[in-house]
Amino acid sequence: MYSDFIKGLIDVLGSDGVLQHPTELEPYLTDWRAIFKGQALAVVFPKTSSEVQTIVQLCQEFAIAIVPQGGNTNLTGSATPEKTGQQIVLSTKRMNKIRSIDLENQTMVVEAGCILQTIQEKAAQLGLLFPLSLAAEGSCTIGGNLATNAGGINVLRYGNTRDLCLGIEAVTAGGEVLDGLRGLRKDNTGYDLRNLIIGSEGTLAIITAAVIKLFPAPVSRCAAYIAVNDYSVIVKLLHALQKKAANELCAFEIMSKESLDLTQSHFPQFSHPIFNQSEYTLLIELAEFDQHSIAHQLLEDVLSTDLEKGTIQDVLIATSLTQVKQFWAIREHITLAQAKELGNIKFDISFEISKIGPFIQSTSQLLIARYPGIRIINFGHFGDGNLHFNLCPPIGVDQNYFTHHEESISALVYDQISLFNGSISAEHGIGQLKRDYLAKHRGNTAYQMMQEIKKTLDPKQLLNPHKVLR
Ligand code: FAD
Ligand code: MLT
Ligand code: ZN
Repeated sequence: MYSDFIKGLIDVLGSDGVLQHPTELEPYLTDWRAIFKGQALAVVFPKTSSEVQTIVQLCQEFAIAIVPQGGNTNLTGSATPEKTGQQIVLSTKRMNKIRSIDLENQTMVVEAGCILQTIQEKAAQLGLLFPLSLAAEGSCTIGGNLATNAGGINVLRYGNTRDLCLGIEAVTAGGEVLDGLRGLRKDNTGYDLRNLIIGSEGTLAIITAAVIKLFPAPVSRCAAYIAVNDYSVIVKLLHALQKKAANELCAFEIMSKESLDLTQSHFPQFSHPIFNQSEYTLLIELAEFDQHSIAHQLLEDVLSTDLEKGTIQDVLIATSLTQVKQFWAIREHITLAQAKELGNIKFDISFEISKIGPFIQSTSQLLIARYPGIRIINFGHFGDGNLHFNLCPPIGVDQNYFTHHEESISALVYDQISLFNGSISAEHGIGQLKRDYLAKHRGNTAYQMMQEIKKTLDPKQLLNPHKVLR
């Protein structure tokens, strides 16, 4: 039976479009953090939406499930097939064309497998901006960004990926093409299917193309690196900038001392540019949209007053684009530094801004009391309420420390998240990592509605089964 199925795939895609050899399959069978490991019958590489459609129809016929995969940079095991070896991975790598650009409408039609950085570069060539930005942008795809509703560093000004998309084309589990490639900014015609599919992590449809929004490019970027000891100052600074430079404020990132120390220990080439003993360091970016912008001056004014009063410990405002990029390189290497530490637990969570500080304080106290020496590596997109609350085992414990304690640590942190009314996934999605926590977190009614949607749109469980929902 499988040989007929594989023959059918090769008939559609040619033999170079179907990988089967175990060593060739390898990179597609595990996630970026190498936590989850699966098996697959084959990895397939369609080039067009109609090839995706034919593959889905073939999978229907043979009852074979499909795991869509873009850049495979997700942090939740969402694009890793199950261990059964009876699923296929559908890679969008070859669907990477920019189909069209509409300068008047400020939109671009891109195929799902376009690499995010390629899209950013194309927009820049046109003198425009595609503002989605994250450390994995050199390898993640727009299809994956949409399927996870990725956030990143510019959510404060431009929103999540959902807010950057006006239309999608997708292949349904029934093998139909949903053609929604329209660049309309207003369209209230029935249920919003685009927004249902965005963020559904490949469980409801396979996205094949999208209409994305472009924006005016800033004429320059202005960034500051700020050392702060007193947590309450961080919130005041955010409010001051939102009041004085709301249109320009793009990014407001927080990095704890521990997260920077860890980064420096693995990547000593990224030296800390200012006083590095403060509890927190902020990385703030403002975009300047015209030559006469006073954003830079505003930033200087706000920060110099705080520096004089002693409410912030040190500050450095970048004087060149190279320096702006150096600041960001440090921030982006936190995740890479953590990946070098064996065994860590990641919590990608969000809160109302007022609750971030109390959550960090209370949860850290509980963790340190129960697991002496545990290292709390927190950082994140403070301006939009998204905290990356990550844990590394105490120095010197054996490699399996977290294998023994992960369940109890997760229970503690998830209880705290619900106490502070936060979300268990701000931007990375659910995948398989958080699947078993979703029902409790969202409550019975919401969870049942999600199950009903899945049953209706994918009754045979063909699309990424057992991800997001149990
Ligand atoms: P994949 O990992 O290939 O897939 C992710 C999910 O989308 C899976 O469920 C998959 O089945 C589904 N999928 C992929 N393509 C399609 C498609 N065409 N149709 C339907 N479903 C599809 N995320 C953030 O939100 N913000 C960050 O700041 C951020 N920083 C990161 C930094 C690093 C260093 C790394 C490694 C990851 C980071 N991520 C971040 C996570 C990750 O990069 C994003 O989730 C990204 O959007 C995933 O895109 P991808 O193409 O790699 O998708
Ligand atoms: C980031 O903002 O760098 C990420 O979302 C990745 C992480 O959580 O490590
Ligand atoms: Zn993030």
